[in-house]
Amino acid sequence: MRLAATAGAALALPQLAAACGSSDGGGSGSGGVRDELKVGLLLELSGVYAVNGQDMRSGFELYLAEHGVQLGGRKVNLIVEDIGGDPSVGVQKATKLLRQEEVAVASGIVTSSVALAVRDLFDTGKVPLIISNAGANALTREKKSKYLFRTSFSNWQPNYSMGQWVYDNVAKDGVFAVSPDYVAGHEQTDAFKQAYTKAGGKLAGEVHPPFATTQDYQPFLSQIGKANPKAVYAFFSGGEAVTFVKQYAEFGLKDSVPLVGPGFTVEGVLKAQGDAALGVRSGLHYTILLDNPTNKRFVSAYRQKFSKDPTVFSVQSYDAAQLIDLALKKTSGETANQEAFAEALASVGEIDSPRGKFRLDATTHNPVQSFYVREVKKVGDGLGNVKIGDLGELADPG
Ligand code: BEZ
Repeated sequence: MRLAATAGAALALPQLAAACGSSDGGGSGSGGVRDELKVGLLLELSGVYAVNGQDMRSGFELYLAEHGVQLGGRKVNLIVEDIGGDPSVGVQKATKLLRQEEVAVASGIVTSSVALAVRDLFDTGKVPLIISNAGANALTREKKSKYLFRTSFSNWQPNYSMGQWVYDNVAKDGVFAVSPDYVAGHEQTDAFKQAYTKAGGKLAGEVHPPFATTQDYQPFLSQIGKANPKAVYAFFSGGEAVTFVKQYAEFGLKDSVPLVGPGFTVEGVLKAQGDAALGVRSGLHYTILLDNPTNKRFVSAYRQKFSKDPTVFSVQSYDAAQLIDLALKKTSGETANQEAFAEALASVGEIDSPRGKFRLDATTHNPVQSFYVREVKKVGDGLGNVKIGDLGELADPG
């Protein structure tokens, strides 16, 4: 099939073909045989967030495996693309999924800058995108869309929820904030600062090392040390979280200056961080140790399939598959009417997730969910994020 010049034009094609009974994006084919459902996964399978992307792939694949590789009663053809955390690659791969593959729905994306870059393609193409990590605030605010959904968080959520807690439990002043210099880095520490200063806290300073290229945090740790802070609030993830947390300990700050932050800094990387992560306290909407039946079943199935522990990234992606499945059950598997499909996604109601039950806000399509404080402790033979507090349910303000 020839590729159309614009996303909007290209995406008229699945609808037309579906009406003729032969589309990937539609419902039943000729002779009543149900067409496969083409689903795109845009993932960072290389680069500093490769570990997150791999967990997201596993989470999605686990849900499919548990449901006979079907969503909404249709066999799934999963098309996985590596976007490497690069916005221009993200646009190229999203365009391929939309125009060439004509997927009915897509999911994934770790990095905020990539999600922002591909947003318009899905919005104008009227193809639902279920973001299963990237937290860019704008995507639930000024850039929200009928066709954009998130099963993860906005960058504001886990960090705003930690501001008051750090003020009450860690330090009333002298907190130094550090995060990589890109949109998510700034949004994460800004949300913390907003709540911490509102509580009455005073910051000792902040610094933003270059994103995805910094390997030696020594100059930044030196700057932090000179500010003589009472605590450090750090957002990093994936490979960067391993490097930063290890170098924080090697630099000698670990024993004198408590390290706190959003949970990403110590999520899915504890084995690589080792004892350098011990004692880190963080806020997040998940820990593998959550004591609910859905999580227990999920953790056991995940371990059995992948011989490793799931993470928040696995859960968010598992729930993206679940969201699509629930919506397609409402439309009897049909996606050809793109508006109706989007409306079904927006109205699935409560989702029974390993993180606990949550729902998508009707306006922002962003999770309304509970947040927890975790602390890295010795658990069995290794390390784990043990829940030490409840931060309550929080929705992005929109
Ligand atoms: C982000 O870019 O939005 C992001 C990346 C890793 C963890 C959390 C957020």
